[in-house]
Amino acid sequence: MSVADKTDQISRRSFLEALGVSAGSSMMLRASAAMGLAAASTSCGGGGGSDANASPAPQTPPPPPPDDGGSLASPIPSDWPSNAGANKSVIILGAGIAGMTCAFEMLKLGYTCTILEASNRAGGRNRTIRAGDQIEEVDSNQICNFDADDNLYFNPGPARIPHHHEFILGYCREFGVALEVFTNDNKAALLHSTSAFGGQPQIARSMVADTRGRISELLANAVNQNQLDQQFSDGDKTNIIAMLRQYGDLDSQLNYTGSSRAGFEGQENTGNPDRESMLSPKQLIAIVNSNFWQSQQEFSQSIDQQGTLLQPVGGMDNIAKAFEARVGSTITYEAVVTQIRKTTNGVNVFYQEAGAAETSMSADYCICTIPAPVLVNIPNDFSSAHQSAIQGFQYSQSGKMAFQSRRFWEQDHNIYGGISWTDQDITQIWYPNNGFGQDEGIIVGAYTFGTTAGSNFASQSPEQRISSGTSQGSQLHPEYANEVNRGISVSWPKVPFQLGAWGISDPGILVNADGNIYFAGEHLSILQGWQEGAVLSAYHAVNGIVINDTT
Ligand code: ALA
Repeated sequence: MSVADKTDQISRRSFLEALGVSAGSSMMLRASAAMGLAAASTSCGGGGGSDANASPAPQTPPPPPPDDGGSLASPIPSDWPSNAGANKSVIILGAGIAGMTCAFEMLKLGYTCTILEASNRAGGRNRTIRAGDQIEEVDSNQICNFDADDNLYFNPGPARIPHHHEFILGYCREFGVALEVFTNDNKAALLHSTSAFGGQPQIARSMVADTRGRISELLANAVNQNQLDQQFSDGDKTNIIAMLRQYGDLDSQLNYTGSSRAGFEGQENTGNPDRESMLSPKQLIAIVNSNFWQSQQEFSQSIDQQGTLLQPVGGMDNIAKAFEARVGSTITYEAVVTQIRKTTNGVNVFYQEAGAAETSMSADYCICTIPAPVLVNIPNDFSSAHQSAIQGFQYSQSGKMAFQSRRFWEQDHNIYGGISWTDQDITQIWYPNNGFGQDEGIIVGAYTFGTTAGSNFASQSPEQRISSGTSQGSQLHPEYANEVNRGISVSWPKVPFQLGAWGISDPGILVNADGNIYFAGEHLSILQGWQEGAVLSAYHAVNGIVINDTT
């Protein structure tokens, strides 16, 4: 019987009952939510899913937001009896969030789990860099020179958690990982284009207020003058115009003459308490030509980037550490997988520990979370369809860079958290969401998630990234030239055992097991590029194995 056939026989009720027994009611509730989530969710980031479909065709391609997912697989309801794994073994490849989720849940079901992890740490791309940490890329090594301080850290991988990513948040709750607010959208942050507004950065609040004002002005006048195809009743016209006046802050003549929402002259700097000199409103065509509307200005509207977002207090790796505290005894570190083979009733995985000869381990099942760009080079017995899916699987080339600095953004510009955007390669500047009011902070000086920007970043040495990142950042903040220092960067396509930031191809057949080999990882989920996707993909793999063992 195929897995799909068996899946059809599984009742949703028994699945939930089994989870309730094995994992407590919070898990049961979370699983119940996941089933509903499956059809509705979109993949990582800003412009995907229905938001992207609703957008007008841009004049030029926008900088790709971090969410290029296609048609993705969803977790399937199944049945997890508490003793499903008795006398069954599984080798999990990779101690990232997906791999550790599999181990955490399968241990509860009685499976014997072994995680083979190629690096010397758990967490995968869930990583936090602090004073003294080493960043290894295929052709460079960096040591983090930040001062040792709880607030001076850098999350080069996942750094924000949307409020509806309830499975990863559920684990935070269960494990006692403290969370705080991550600010995605700060109207005091900057929007910068080298070719708009004379290259002068614009305060986000002025772009947002003027865009709303100009669009409302246009529409209100059209409605007022009966210039739309649709005729409205007098009452509807009155109401629509009232709404547009409110939405755009129009005057009684339906003109947009500027708004206090846009801020005041000089308000980009502290020490200018002028609250009377209104800014001249930008013209509609200048707004349109700035291209900020293509993604930057509306980034935080998409389902996965809307507030509230959260971050673990003290660093994202607190989540990885919490998982590791629970499944660490199953992890063999620095065990590099060299072959993945099928046997008559299971799997045989060959691997090499540091300085040792190749050895192998057999089990009933394998769950492979190894990223596709790494997996493609590991000899295996996969079906030709699985092999070619892995072969062609694309990853984002994203990277990030961070500096330590005086918190000039707070002290001189009233910017507390949030993100500034530029059309230069650095793409974004992130202001820290922790340590407010302290003297020093960590500013993320680049988040290069466009393909070109990411590839350029990857091709630079760490020193070149610091140099170009400093000069590009100076276009938004002249303080960069003298104040940011101790730069450190991670280009995910160059990190051993990762070789990419997150999956952007359609998972296709990889969501299906190949014999007793199952696949998991954010790249195979409906939420590519998110830890929630890693968790959902883990549930999908565990479901498949439990179904196989219980039906
Ligand atoms: N989920 C990742 C982000 O939000 C890619 O940047």
